[in-house]
Amino acid sequence: MTDLHVVVLAAGKGTRMKSDLPKVLHRISGQALLDYVVRAAGELSPASLTIIIGHKAELIRARLGGQRSLRLVVQEPQLGTAHAVMQAEPFLAAASGTMLLLSGDVPLLSTNTLRALLQAHEAEGAAATVLTAVLERPYGYGRIVRAQGQVARIVEERDASPTERAIREINAGVYAFDLEPLFPALRSIASQNAQGEYYLTDLVTIYRRRKLAVASHTVADAAEIRGINSRTELAEVGALVRQKKNEELMAAGVTLVDPATAYIEPDVLVGPDTVIHPNVYLEGTTRVGAACEIHAGVRILNSTIGDRVTLLNYSVITDSTVECDARLGPFAHLRPGSAVGEAAHVGNFVELKKTTLGARSKASHLTYLGDATIGEGVNIGAGTITCNYDGVHKHPTIIEDGAFIGSDSQLVAPVRVGKGAYVAAGSSIVKDVPAGSLGIARGRQANVDGWVDRKKASRAAAQSAPAEPGADPASRQGR
Ligand code: UD1
Ligand code: CA
Repeated sequence: MTDLHVVVLAAGKGTRMKSDLPKVLHRISGQALLDYVVRAAGELSPASLTIIIGHKAELIRARLGGQRSLRLVVQEPQLGTAHAVMQAEPFLAAASGTMLLLSGDVPLLSTNTLRALLQAHEAEGAAATVLTAVLERPYGYGRIVRAQGQVARIVEERDASPTERAIREINAGVYAFDLEPLFPALRSIASQNAQGEYYLTDLVTIYRRRKLAVASHTVADAAEIRGINSRTELAEVGALVRQKKNEELMAAGVTLVDPATAYIEPDVLVGPDTVIHPNVYLEGTTRVGAACEIHAGVRILNSTIGDRVTLLNYSVITDSTVECDARLGPFAHLRPGSAVGEAAHVGNFVELKKTTLGARSKASHLTYLGDATIGEGVNIGAGTITCNYDGVHKHPTIIEDGAFIGSDSQLVAPVRVGKGAYVAAGSSIVKDVPAGSLGIARGRQANVDGWVDRKKASRAAAQSAPAEPGADPASRQGR
């Protein structure tokens, strides 16, 4: 194999997106279009990987800057795809071998297809090999014009005659080039076309004139080469990505009640016999175990869920873990750094943040637990609140195994409730409750005997008394 140098074009504005964001940063299933392309290229272990950026380059740099194996080259101004490729010349002038040229807005190309393109390129010994596809609706793409079976030229939609527009074989915008003749030929491209741009596709005509061989390779699955130029295409390609993931999951034994409304990102793993109801979002690096039941409206981000977990409707879980047999929701909220133990329960309107809830512990209703470490078999009563924040610092709450926190209690952190201790309902706990004791901190109740009857009697007496002259009865009633 000769050296492989990958160049990705990502400098264009993406006018048709009508967006402030560069087109290649628009996302499908949580990842930028450019992320898909960089990932597929990276799997080929190229000698170099160059990305041509331009429009809002700083945003793309911020997104990719951390990856040291990438070379980012700025194209300014953006004068067309041929001009974009020329920006790589200073870095590849001394290189030899093959350039694989990719488009940042064609996210579905598989590494296998790229390998097949490179193999065809080598086998034919061509100077350039164009990746093509045959589409039912070729609208918008450059068409492959053939003569005696050979690629004669590529004509853009806007420059095409009606006969050329009827051609269904299109240019995927992905090519393998022999590096040696490439840059000299690019310099002879002109910009006399409908868009006044330097079209890379004109290279075909130039190569033909120079008797350099131009080959083609047609993709097996035309869906792979879908380019994204508009919001409609973004949605359509997004649906294809989701569909592929859903089919993989179903083949692996996951039930999707309605695949059209399952939003599961590519890196998510789900165990067999898990049932996923409509409008569920599983995102990032989320792992869900086997035989779970995930009800409608649940959203899980970068979290790990054990086996046989039940997640009731509209629960949100972020950067957290849930152990086997736990039950959460409806409307439970696990914020980052939370861990729910085996067979634990987190009920409706319960929020956990950086909190560990031990095995078989329960917080069933209307509760906030922040920066708390809660042992096993603990019962957290309805309306319990950890007061973890003093306006400047966050403080921990520790509740040991078997403790019982009565309803509507406030635990003013830092504070510890010892093993098996009780907190009386309605308490504001400001100091530690030792193991085995009862913490009670609330006003004492007093009952006033006969109070209701006396109140009724005094009201009746006031109403039967004659009105004072000039007094307005309405002002007395309407309070
Ligand atoms: C291009 C091809 C077309 C092909 C289609 C496949 C040309 C002239 N046309 O058309 O034949 O069918 O892709 O999807 O090449 N870019 C730059 N700098 C520029 C202009 C564009 O980096 O100055 C980048 C864009 O960011 C994009 C890619 O090149 O990632 C393609 O540009 P785009 O304007 O989308 O070309 P298409 O009209 O789709
Ligand atoms: Ca495009």
